[in-house]
Amino acid sequence: MGLEAMANPLQVVDPEVYEAVCRDLHRQLTRIDLIAAENYVSAAVLIATGSVMTNKYAEGYPAARYYGGCEWIDVAERLAIERAKQIFGAQHANVQPHCGTQANMAVYFAILKPGDTIMALDLAHGGHLSHGAPKSFCGALYNVVPYGVSRETESIDMDQVRDLAVKHRPRLIVTGASSYPRFIDFARFGEVAREVGAWLMADVAHPAGLIAAGLHPTPVPHADFVTATTHKTMRGPRGGIILCKGEHAAKIDSQVFPGIQGGPMMHTIAGKAVALKEALEPDFAEYQAQILANCQAMLRELQDRGHRIVTGGSDNHLFLVDLRSLGMAGRLACQLLDEAGITLNQNLIPFDPRSARETSGIRIGTPAVTTRGMREPEMHLIADWLDRVLRRPDDAGLRARIRAEVEDLCLQFPIYTGLSGTFVPELALAGTGILPVRPTGGTPVPLGPD
Ligand SMILES: Cc1ncc(COP(=O)(O)O)c(C=O)c1O
Repeated sequence: MGLEAMANPLQVVDPEVYEAVCRDLHRQLTRIDLIAAENYVSAAVLIATGSVMTNKYAEGYPAARYYGGCEWIDVAERLAIERAKQIFGAQHANVQPHCGTQANMAVYFAILKPGDTIMALDLAHGGHLSHGAPKSFCGALYNVVPYGVSRETESIDMDQVRDLAVKHRPRLIVTGASSYPRFIDFARFGEVAREVGAWLMADVAHPAGLIAAGLHPTPVPHADFVTATTHKTMRGPRGGIILCKGEHAAKIDSQVFPGIQGGPMMHTIAGKAVALKEALEPDFAEYQAQILANCQAMLRELQDRGHRIVTGGSDNHLFLVDLRSLGMAGRLACQLLDEAGITLNQNLIPFDPRSARETSGIRIGTPAVTTRGMREPEMHLIADWLDRVLRRPDDAGLRARIRAEVEDLCLQFPIYTGLSGTFVPELALAGTGILPVRPTGGTPVPLGPD
């Protein structure tokens, strides 16, 4: 294929995709990412995920494949499985789900029949689409009884959970959330599930990295099934995993394949194995602790500047800001902040008077900025920018000035430096005119539009 003859195969073969990738890298390098569900994988994870393992069909499981030539594939998948079991103290791990939603789907299909009753956190109170939202497969297939948070504390009301469980006798109780800033009482959920004879599934897509580091309660001893994504706080490639007791292993494995998936994405599983190895290193626990410290630093600074934080704080890597006192919708806040170089998402707050399209809140998470090496001083700076942009929505000049300051800060905390070879970061840095090559204090080089 003559790779060596091409300075840069992607650019030669597909200049349009090449440019889109370079520009997205530029976006990642020069903007602050506060999306709680995003992160920057390490160079090692990036390389494994972009590796030749994408070429291999490997239906089945290690030593039980339907294709030949799987000996090295088996090595990668076994490493991912063993590391996941070790990190979370689980008896069994399935690392093949293509995403978090498919991990959840596999558990539902393994234990439920269409029409069965399940209970899960209301989407409007922080739950996830795949926990029974009417527009998801889960809402369409099952009789979903949502539970919510209390109006007073904005935290999950365990008395309501028990009352609903006793009344509706669900086959499955789902716990876990997408935008819930507090610890979840997995032990209490386990008690309620046992009392009513329900299965318990804990979806820890968000706090999985914190759990791996021992900084968040673990559901593993309490839940029959634990699902997670590998790309949020776990800082791995996009994907899902399922953990369960040994007695459920065969049921889960056959439901993932052939039940709902075909061949596993072995390049992604290789990336998962690498991310899980990184999660076993001591500096991963330090990283997770800094995520928490950064989250506290930013939310306290915002509180000090008069912003109301839903539940009054956070136990994890994210928090919600209630924008009602500013009279601003989350949607507008998100657009204004984007202009200022700060990326986050609009979010419903509990009992939100606005629709999901508008929302009264924004969600803020610190995994990605922490990966860049930012600490408390930078969190104070970011909170200051957030505060000023939100309070002066008519000031486009302010947003432009902050955008330049954001870029300067980002360049002090670079990502993907030192990669070599034909990897995209190198390509993007190799004089495309897209990246801001702006030595601190030097003359800015003009950027292309993005
Ligand atoms: C709690 C929870 N579960 C599942 C998922 C689904 O993950 P994916 O987007 O990989 O399907 C998410 C994603 O945000 C989530 O927050």
